[in-house]
Amino acid sequence: MPYRSAYSPRPQGRAGRNWSLPCLNIARCGSGVLNEGAWDTRDAYFHIIEDAHARNFDRRVGEWHAPHRGATRMSEDPSDQRLRAPASARNQDPILDVLRARLPPSGLVLEVASGTGEHVVHFAAGLPGLVFQPSDVDARCRESVAAWVVSSDLSNIRPVKALDVTGDWAAQIPGGQVDAVLCINMIHISPWEATLGLIDGASRRLHPGGVLFLYGPFKRNGAHTAPTNAVFDGRLRAQDASWGIRDLSEVTDVARLAGFNAPEVIEMPANNLSVLFRLPG
Ligand SMILES: C[S@@+](CC[C@H](N)C(=O)[O-])C[C@H]1O[C@@H](n2cnc3c(N)ncnc32)[C@H](O)[C@@H]1O
Repeated sequence: MPYRSAYSPRPQGRAGRNWSLPCLNIARCGSGVLNEGAWDTRDAYFHIIEDAHARNFDRRVGEWHAPHRGATRMSEDPSDQRLRAPASARNQDPILDVLRARLPPSGLVLEVASGTGEHVVHFAAGLPGLVFQPSDVDARCRESVAAWVVSSDLSNIRPVKALDVTGDWAAQIPGGQVDAVLCINMIHISPWEATLGLIDGASRRLHPGGVLFLYGPFKRNGAHTAPTNAVFDGRLRAQDASWGIRDLSEVTDVARLAGFNAPEVIEMPANNLSVLFRLPG
């Protein structure tokens, strides 16, 4: 199945503009904590609108945001390729706390679907004994990751790699086995094949005892864990029928077949889960 970006421009936006934001509907879906599982969140939407008004950039917003909805540029400087996603700023510390308690003090960590690159920079700064290998299938995301890495001045982040988990990705990343694979907010914004490829590749590239870390919204026993997740799931599926919030038990079945132990599951803010699958040591 060909890769389809979560940030592909929509053919036509509101009022004929070229910056259609499906998150408009999510933003209006009601009160309560919205899921952070995509960059298409209420915050992202308001952030974009506030930016547009505050800086009187209304016309230029289309150029900035059409290809990468919800992720906005860090600055007006066209040479600054860094994107930011408001959800990353909110979830990076809770995720870092989970990783700090469970990853080894040293080793190599592969991040799949690095997105803007904010996470890898934050994690690398907080876990200086580890070396991080960021990656993404999307070229614009890789530009942003590279720019974040340069601006961070950290020496424990490798150059970002192109990696599509629906391909034979285990062979695409240089070097030997890795100690952990991180994948945050991807499996519901990609076809099921991406989840299958992620788990299969991770099982082949991880050391014995290595960890596959997933973060995002999940169904449990066939049911959504919050009404806002159900709304979010409906929007995802309307956008692309092959996307959607995955059931943890189905993901676990795939992981078990690939050789992983039963997962450790940690409830996270905004109706998300951290799910850690470990290979037998
Ligand atoms: C919602 S963003 C999440 C990005 C980042 N992990 C975060 O939490 O901010 C989803 C990411 O998944 C990536 N992605 C989608 N399909 C992919 C695939 N088949 N292989 C690798 N990355 C993929 C997209 O390019 C995008 O960066």
